[in-house]
Amino acid sequence: MAETKRRPCLVVLILMSSLAFPLAATSLRRRKSLETIKSLNQNGPYLGLITVYPPEEDAFFSTGAFKHDPKHPFVDLSGRRYRVGKLEGKKIIYVRCGVGMVNAAATTQQMLDLFDITGIVHFGIAGNANNSMSIGDVSIPQEVAHTGIWDWLKQNGTLETDIVAHLDIGSYNVPKNRGINLLGRIGYRNEQFFSESGNPNTAQPLLWARISQNWLNLAANLEGMKLEQCVNSSLCLPQKPKLVVGLRGSTANVFVDNAAYREFLFNTFHVSSVDMESSAVVTTSLSNGFAVIVIRGLSDLAGGQPGKNSIDIFGPLAARNTAKVVIQFVKTLP
Ligand SMILES: *[C@@H]1O[C@H](CO)[C@@H](O)[C@H](O)[C@H]1NC(C)=O
Ligand SMILES: *[C@@H]1O[C@H](CO)[C@@H](O)[C@H](O)[C@H]1NC(C)=O
Ligand SMILES: *[C@@H]1O[C@H](CO)[C@@H](O)[C@H](O)[C@H]1NC(C)=O
Repeated sequence: MAETKRRPCLVVLILMSSLAFPLAATSLRRRKSLETIKSLNQNGPYLGLITVYPPEEDAFFSTGAFKHDPKHPFVDLSGRRYRVGKLEGKKIIYVRCGVGMVNAAATTQQMLDLFDITGIVHFGIAGNANNSMSIGDVSIPQEVAHTGIWDWLKQNGTLETDIVAHLDIGSYNVPKNRGINLLGRIGYRNEQFFSESGNPNTAQPLLWARISQNWLNLAANLEGMKLEQCVNSSLCLPQKPKLVVGLRGSTANVFVDNAAYREFLFNTFHVSSVDMESSAVVTTSLSNGFAVIVIRGLSDLAGGQPGKNSIDIFGPLAARNTAKVVIQFVKTLP
């Protein structure tokens, strides 16, 4: 009896310890990071910088303008690396969030919850949806929309009254009038916006998330700043790139490389840039009551080009111009 009783106990013990070890190690590491953040906050507040993927990060760091804190150059949390340092004399927490709206919102929320942050400067590259803008230009939009929150209906499906726009896929049939199109139609919804300033537990419908006006005003003074025109010694853009403040941007979990959809987005929402993170960062920042700005360099025509998307060729140049604007913007902050 005693023997048979002990064995399952041993098995359970072994099982428990093999499970508990990785868990304990993870949470110990996390606890250490949270301790580090607590002590970092005593030297705050910081400006939060959020970019998306390595080419943007490389362009930013290769300017040499970001000086890592010698004592705590970074702290890792939830698999992301929050870098601590200074840019133009301002205290900075910098993080690369990863592609897409989940990464963007989760990182923004984590940064605002845990660090002593004054506001968020979000930057990266984007597709250009506006034929009056060019690759290499940098856009600081005044408002951004989440254009990936949809009702997908049958061909003649009835759009809800709160739909903000719709895309009838049958209208794009080539040749026309070849019967019904089973992909039907898409109705664009508002975002559900929860915020410190709204009633608790009550979402407001939100299409355009507006960039903080005082930061936009500061950014407007940077228009006309010099941007780079050449990828390298043998490849230059035909015109001088420009910084434009006050346009519109769109965000969805979609890499747009399609001329018809690009044109739909421009004609319907009047957006000049398309990306996969901005509206998530802006909405999350506003929700928590923080200032936010978006700085996006245009790397490609989002499908408007003949042939291959130019992100691989012009992405690095767009990222360098973006980094330049970020540095100048941070410099002008009081
Ligand atoms: C949708 O409406 C069009 C025009 O009224 C009609 O020709 C078509 O058959 C309808 N499609 C379906 C699936 O009901
Ligand atoms: C497209 O870009 C041009 C040049 O920056 C700008 O003047 C125009 O307002 C933009 N169009 C829209 C719809 O925002
Ligand atoms: C310049 O960049 C282009 C595009 O990446 C590349 O094809 C070309 O070889 C580069 N030229 C030089 C001189 O590095």
